[in-house]
Amino acid sequence: MTWLLTGGAGYIGAHIVRAFQQAGMGVVVLDDLSTGIRENVAADVPFVDASVADSAAVATALREHSVTGVLHLAAKKAVGESVAKPLYYWDENVGGMRSLLQTCLDTGVDRVLFSSSAAVYGTPPTEFVNEETPTVPMSPYGETKLAGEWMLRDLAAAGPLRWAALRYFNVAGTRAPELADRGVANLVPMALQALSEGRNPQVFGDDYDTRDGSCVRDYIHVVDLAEAHVAAARRLDERDTGEVYNVGRGEGVTVKEVLEKVREVTGIDFRYDVVGRRPGDPAAYFADPTKISKDLGWSARYDLDDMVRSAWEAWQAR
Ligand SMILES: NC(=O)c1ccc[n+]([C@@H]2O[C@H](COP(=O)([O-])OP(=O)(O)OC[C@H]3O[C@@H](n4cnc5c(N)ncnc54)[C@H](O)[C@@H]3O)[C@@H](O)[C@H]2O)c1
Repeated sequence: MTWLLTGGAGYIGAHIVRAFQQAGMGVVVLDDLSTGIRENVAADVPFVDASVADSAAVATALREHSVTGVLHLAAKKAVGESVAKPLYYWDENVGGMRSLLQTCLDTGVDRVLFSSSAAVYGTPPTEFVNEETPTVPMSPYGETKLAGEWMLRDLAAAGPLRWAALRYFNVAGTRAPELADRGVANLVPMALQALSEGRNPQVFGDDYDTRDGSCVRDYIHVVDLAEAHVAAARRLDERDTGEVYNVGRGEGVTVKEVLEKVREVTGIDFRYDVVGRRPGDPAAYFADPTKISKDLGWSARYDLDDMVRSAWEAWQAR
C-alpha cells in the first residue's frame, strides 16, 4: 500500500513520513513548500513540488506511484490569520481539499485520511471532549477543518470512500532536532523563542476558572500523533470505515504548568508576564481518547516532559 502525504514537508507531515517508513508503508510526498521545508523529506522518499489544487500534478503523482490512499495534511493553520483573511482560508483549506478529492475520485483513489483539529469544537460545553461533543468552531480555521470532515462524509454517502479524520489537540515535541516545529504559534516554541530573545514568556490571562487561573489544554507528542496516523491508515487499508477520532493524551495541563516544565528542563530561572486573554480562548478542554484507543488500539506513550525536553534539545541545536 502506498500513501500520498500532502503537506509531508511540514512539521507534523515529516514525522508521519518517518513513522510510515518505519511501519513498512510506501510514502510519496506532495508539498508546495509554502511553509514546509524540502530537507524535512528524506532523499529516498519521492517528492512532488506542487499544490494540492494542481489537479494535473496530483493525478500524475497518484498514477505514477500507484497510490492507494491520500493523507491530507496540507493546509494553512494560523487561527488569527484565518480571522483576518477568511476567504484565503476557505480557498486554501476547503477549495484545496475539494480539488484534491475530485482528483482522488477521477483516479480511483478511495481512501482518505484527513488532518482535522480540536478547533472544530470551539468553546466546548464540557472540559472532557469526546467525538459526540457539539462542533461549534470559533474561527474560520476551525470552520474549514469541519467543512473538510463534512466533504468526506458527503462523498462517502454518495459512493465508495473509506475515510477517517483525526482531530489533533495541542501538538508539541520532536523526534529529531532537524524536524522540530519551526513556527512559533504554539506555546512551547513561543516560550523558547521568548527566552532566546531575553524576553519573558507570556501567559494570556490567569483569571480563568481553572486550578491556577491559566488555560488548560491537552498536549500530544508529535511522535505519538504520527503513530496514530499509522494505525488509522492501516485501518483504512483493512476495511471500509468513516470515522472521526480525537487524538490527545486525555490529560489537561495548564499554561503555567507547561512553563514550569520549561523552567525545569531548560534550567533558566525566568519569570512570565501575565497579559490579557486572547479572544475566543476557552478556559479548559482536553480530549477523551477512548474511541481511538478502542477502535485503533492507539494510545499516547510520551508525556509533557518528553515533549518539552525534545523541543529544548532541538532549540539548542539550531
Ligand atoms: N500543529 C498543530 O498544533 C496542529 C493542530 C491541529 C491540526 N493541525 C493540522 O495539521 C496539519 C499539518 O500542520 P503542521 O503543524 O505540520 O503545519 P506546517 O505548516 O508545518 O505544514 C503544512 C504543510 O502543508 C504544505 N502546504 C500548505 N498548503 C499547501 C498546498 N496548497 N499544497 C501543497 N502543500 C501545501 C506546507 O508547505 C507545509 O509543508 C495542518 O492541516 C494543520 O491544520 C496542526
